[in-house]
Amino acid sequence: MASDPPMHSDSGNTYILDPESVAEMARLIELDNMTTKSMGDFLNGLTDLPDEAKVLDIACGPGGWALDMAFNYPDMEVIGIDISQTMVAYANARASSQGIRNVSFGVMDTTQTLDFSDHSFDLVNGRLLSSFLHRDVWMQLLQECRRILRPGGILRITETDNGGVTNSPSFDQLNTLLFQTMHKAGYGFSPHGTTLGITPMLERLFSQAGYTQIQSQAHSVNFSSDAEAWSNFYKNAEVVFDGALPLLQRANPNAAEELTSLYQRMLIEMQEPEFCGRWYLLTVWGTTPELTTPS
Ligand SMILES: C[S@@+](CC[C@H](N)C(=O)[O-])C[C@H]1O[C@@H](n2cnc3c(N)ncnc32)[C@H](O)[C@@H]1O
Repeated sequence: MASDPPMHSDSGNTYILDPESVAEMARLIELDNMTTKSMGDFLNGLTDLPDEAKVLDIACGPGGWALDMAFNYPDMEVIGIDISQTMVAYANARASSQGIRNVSFGVMDTTQTLDFSDHSFDLVNGRLLSSFLHRDVWMQLLQECRRILRPGGILRITETDNGGVTNSPSFDQLNTLLFQTMHKAGYGFSPHGTTLGITPMLERLFSQAGYTQIQSQAHSVNFSSDAEAWSNFYKNAEVVFDGALPLLQRANPNAAEELTSLYQRMLIEMQEPEFCGRWYLLTVWGTTPELTTPS
């Protein structure tokens, strides 16, 4: 079983799982493939980037999206940042072993002021940030992205409200418990913590942070027992809930054993031929206002 996740550790790390865990990194490598595939491709919905655009991927994990961008657009300069030293080291090693020279990765805490000058980037991308961003930090991050984007630059965020909707009673129960625990700890916008509740908020947050030309696109993945994505999602659920169990057990100290059995039942139910599941994502993108020259 994984060690306690540092949800509110002294280090300031607010990720609900252990960002230095190798199991978590392996999960994110698979998750990146799945997320990109469900979105069509890694630039889905975006056109008109300058040939030599400077691109930032925030909370980049093991670097899959940034590496794809850099490989496909060799004239662009791509930077990935993440709080995890393990993931950043792995991403840099991948860039080096694949000979991709227009990408680099660094350790940076996205909940703090970003160590980049004003107007440095043409595109800032971020996916699945609700797993570490408290609801009262979202606006600060969107404004910080606006600061580092050039006038006319694009911010693009992809989020999900939960780990999937399924017909497995145990999966459903564990998901609900996780989101209620996160809700109490300050994550998500759902009034009762039944989901993360970020997707209905994203466009409003973009608008409040001063972005214009806001657009959105929804994506979904079928991970039912007979679907191609099933095994990926099964492994994903195995690692996420194993990592989250200590958190749930701390929040429900009288139900520690029950939670372990619930986790085991979820794995069994996901293997049943009747198992049906679907994961929903929303991508929102918006543009920073062009500078107006005084007449
Ligand atoms: C769910 S993963 C998403 C990874 C990647 N964006 C993707 O779509 O595949 C969340 C990532 O956020 C990183 N993270 C957690 N807290 C962070 C923070 N405060 N600043 C930067 N990255 C953070 C984790 O290490 C992890 O790689």
